[in-house]
Amino acid sequence: MEILLHNWAELLVRWLHIITAIAWIGSSFYFMWLDNSLRDYGTLEPKASGENWSVHGGGFYHIQKFMVSPDKMPSELHWFKWESYITWISGFSLMAIVYYWGAESYLIDRSVLDISAAAAIAISIGSLAIGWAVYDLLCRSPLKEHGTVMFTVLFAFIVVAAYGYGQVFSSRAAFLHVGAMIATMMSANVFMIIIPNQKKVVASLVAGQDPDPALGKASKLRSTHNNYLTLPVLFMMISNHYPMVFGHDWNWLLVGFVLALGAVIRDYFNAHNAGKSGSALQWQWPTAAVLTVALIALTAWKPGGEMVVEDDVYTIDALAIAQTRCVACHSARPTDEDFNEAPGGVMFDTPEQLKQYAARIMAQTVLTKTMPLGNKTGMTDLERARMGAWIKTGMKDE
Ligand code: HEC
Repeated sequence: MEILLHNWAELLVRWLHIITAIAWIGSSFYFMWLDNSLRDYGTLEPKASGENWSVHGGGFYHIQKFMVSPDKMPSELHWFKWESYITWISGFSLMAIVYYWGAESYLIDRSVLDISAAAAIAISIGSLAIGWAVYDLLCRSPLKEHGTVMFTVLFAFIVVAAYGYGQVFSSRAAFLHVGAMIATMMSANVFMIIIPNQKKVVASLVAGQDPDPALGKASKLRSTHNNYLTLPVLFMMISNHYPMVFGHDWNWLLVGFVLALGAVIRDYFNAHNAGKSGSALQWQWPTAAVLTVALIALTAWKPGGEMVVEDDVYTIDALAIAQTRCVACHSARPTDEDFNEAPGGVMFDTPEQLKQYAARIMAQTVLTKTMPLGNKTGMTDLERARMGAWIKTGMKDE
């Protein structure tokens, strides 16, 4: 019963998380596009600085931007903030359901670091808070005047954090935490800086005073970061299903490539929407292609090389390894307390089943160390190499 409820909690919260993330990212893309596409078509109201005409859903929209307030504040002003808040809240809840509730299996890998579930959860929560604190300090430091330097420092900080997470958590949890840390910065930007500053600006406009220009400037810096971090965060969230990425020995380096790739692609759309042309639009896609190829090449390469297996490995040997390291979970009758049915329906009770899943075993156990989950059963590197040798030499029975 607990397992059923756990799965339902996970599914429902994941559903919510994806819906709100679509709403948040969708509205933020829309406003970035809108801001970049504002022009003057001669139909501007006094004091408006730019306008946009659009057609959608059977009607026309005429939107105008007022850098300072319009003559009269409208009776109702729409704010865009709940998309962001609920995305963070549902995301954190999902992380708690998967990685805290199932800490022994998903968060901790005792061959990485032998810590208790409580300690691992405390590190997880603490790291999100520290990540925000460091980022916030960076944004308030003199670096804020130097956009590119600031971005480089932020980039380095995230890669270092990825390395640090890899020393503490299972590879899958480590990779996800990098995404969660960045997403926390983004949502906190909205909650702690952008919305409060906007409220102060509105208040001073209503009071007939000039708003402090520093407020708008701070918000602009944060929202630019949010804009460039959106695509990398999405990659990190979905790559949780791809062991070739999170399970790579140098997954912190992959984080660096993903950050660069996402930002470069985003930059193309920013420049395009702003009406730029020529060389301002020509460098992004070739760069993105090079980065993608490099990323793929990196996942195909194993730091430290492959372990050499001297003797022949036969099906009976492979089955013996699976018996000791896998069937606690992957069996018609699992003995692991966290599972009452074989995860993913994958079972290794017979030689036929082992052969059937050979390609996936290769991906999960030999090329990466994703399985056994959290290396709960203590599989050795030699056993992984022997499993690989069995598959590569054609799964010989004798
Ligand atoms: C502690 C329990 C546990 C042990 C031990 C374990 N696994 Fe898994 N395995 C899981 C879970 C849970 C999943 C589903 C993962 C998911 O959905 O993200 C899974 C999924 C898989 C998959 C399917 C992944 C896919 O492509 O869909 C394969 C293949 C696999 N495990 C292989 C192995 C092998 C080989 C071993 C032994 C060397 C092993 N597992 C040991 C829990 C375990």
